[in-house]
Amino acid sequence: MSNILDGKGLAQQIKDEMATEVASMMINGDKIPHLAAVLVGEDPASQVYVRNKVRSCEQVGFKSTLIRKDAGISEEELLAVVEKLNQDPDIDGFIVQLPLPKHIDEHKVTLAIDPKKDVDGFHPSNFGRMAQGLPAYLPATPNGIMEMLKRYEVPTEGKEVVVLGRSNIVGMPMSILLAQKNYPGNASVTICHSRTKDLEEHTRRADIIVAAIGIPEFLKANMVKEGVVIIDVGINRVDDETRKRGYRLCGDVDFEGVSPKASLITPVPGGVGPMTVVSLLMNTLKASKGTV
Ligand code: GUN
Repeated sequence: MSNILDGKGLAQQIKDEMATEVASMMINGDKIPHLAAVLVGEDPASQVYVRNKVRSCEQVGFKSTLIRKDAGISEEELLAVVEKLNQDPDIDGFIVQLPLPKHIDEHKVTLAIDPKKDVDGFHPSNFGRMAQGLPAYLPATPNGIMEMLKRYEVPTEGKEVVVLGRSNIVGMPMSILLAQKNYPGNASVTICHSRTKDLEEHTRRADIIVAAIGIPEFLKANMVKEGVVIIDVGINRVDDETRKRGYRLCGDVDFEGVSPKASLITPVPGGVGPMTVVSLLMNTLKASKGTV
């Protein structure tokens, strides 16, 4: 049997379920979910991500609005865009794609988003609610991973989990969710980062590894045990002259080496990425129904 955790296929299945739900909302005359995305500047990766998000909205029948702003926009002007979206009754939820240009304080922008419309789950209010196990918008990537673990019925209770990376949008929330008193959760979680000593001591013990450190093919076969479950969050571009576009995508895991030892593993692309987008749609649907 294949050991691939097929995020792409699962994401499509969830989108199909959502499209059915949106179709019946339409028949009932309910408000159609509406997501807005703010994209500042020309960062190539951000453009791809935002395009994917907008396209996915269309696929399930949501309304979507893309607001593009020049990289030279001032912080004040961007905060005004956020405030307008906060006040717009037709917009159920919105995101401001990160990273933002250096002259803009990302934290200030995140704080300005109405937590009720914060479908990225980045506002400290949503983060705090999540940490306390209260209903909240969960950040898209960790939420997508939790959904994947649930749907594949991956056991987590009592497992040793190692999360590589401590970012606010992946590593930290992921570790909180996997330790929570719930399924998927009830795991013993260790967070490893750039200051961790003997990182391999940790990874070799792990039943489940979530790799989110942004270093291409960092996790090698000799760092994991037989039967490990691998969740690879990395999306790295590495030069590859044999490809027409001049690069290939790879994760934070050396897939070729690690896959033969793994009982389950997410590929890159086609693993966590599509689940992240679907998770944003799930949050938008919740926002439109007011169920968070
Ligand atoms: N940049 C990288 N990941 C994300 C995400 O999930 N949401 C937003 N808004 N920006 C990001």
